[in-house]
Amino acid sequence: MNGIKLRGTGSCVPRHVVTNEDLSRRMETSDAWITSRTGIRRRHHCGDESAAELCVQAARAALSRAGVAPEEIGVCIVATVTPEDLVPSAACTLQQALGLPEDTLCFDLNAACTGFLFALHTMECLLNASPRKFGLVLGAEALSRIINWEDRSTAILFGDGAAAAVVECREGWPSIGAVYGCRGDRTLLHVAGPGSGKRSLISMEGTQVFKFAVETIPRCMDAVLTRHGLGADDVDFFVFHQANARIIDLVVRKYAIPPEKYAKNLEEFGNTSAASIPLLLAQLEAEGTIGPGSRVLLVGFGGGLTWGAAIVEFTQGGRND
Ligand code: ACO
Repeated sequence: MNGIKLRGTGSCVPRHVVTNEDLSRRMETSDAWITSRTGIRRRHHCGDESAAELCVQAARAALSRAGVAPEEIGVCIVATVTPEDLVPSAACTLQQALGLPEDTLCFDLNAACTGFLFALHTMECLLNASPRKFGLVLGAEALSRIINWEDRSTAILFGDGAAAAVVECREGWPSIGAVYGCRGDRTLLHVAGPGSGKRSLISMEGTQVFKFAVETIPRCMDAVLTRHGLGADDVDFFVFHQANARIIDLVVRKYAIPPEKYAKNLEEFGNTSAASIPLLLAQLEAEGTIGPGSRVLLVGFGGGLTWGAAIVEFTQGGRND
């Protein structure tokens, strides 16, 4: 199978910022508790913007950075658990807004916080069967719409945003070698769907999910490094799902990852589920921390339960065609 590489990323977050102080006026919590337990200080919540609008802005930014035109896109996948509409899918709505060709394969993918990773792997498989060699992968969430404001342990965590990556598939490129897993579980993390007749609100056993994350991330990292025949030192940058700063701190300590090789942005955005990994990728690319030739290890974990990791490279810049 031919592999994919990242050509360009872009992101868009809502204007409205909710600080820890704002939350402490709404519920019994404090900036000190939230910061020390999670590392989160602010998050962006949709006001009059919709998740669909965020997707359009993020995708336009990624296409522009990649130097790829909408008519060159063969597959478009939006990873989300909070689409504005169930039908049409967020990806079909994006197809119309961007003017992607009608024979572009467009669909949404639900793997909660692991969504972007599952979407990248799916994209690699599908682009091998596509007549066009560019794909659009997005992670997009409006989690503020499904927050349970009665539950302070989850209400403080989540933010909204969208980020996109234009990927390219070429003969001879190595696969991203994704590793992944699923374990159906309705108790640790649950959001009721429209078919249940219940309100869609997030519920989570935070401490259990924390333990799951701390066990799962190293397992994913070891598996993906082995699959690629690489050591942790061969990786230029590590991008972890941004769920909790303490989870990331534990992992970087375990692997002795130096500070210049990883980043956290949950201080500003909170946990944005499927958008978290591409939001950080877009930020790092925009500031020049990663770019042409960079080899980046991505790790995601979350609801489902789901988990996964992949090693992706950025293209070397100029177009090959
Ligand atoms: N403010 C103040 N106190 C609080 C708050 C709050 N917002 N929330 C909980 N507390 C209290 C609790 O009531 C409890 O008090 P008690 O000891 O008197 O009973 C105490 O703080 C400790 O509560 P815990 O839930 O044990 O706190 P913990 O340290 O586990 O932190 C948190 C909770 C932040 C949710 C953490 O467990 C976590 O980050 N878990 C991982 C989440 C994650 O990784 N999710 C990924 C997937 S998300 C997705 O897929 C959509």
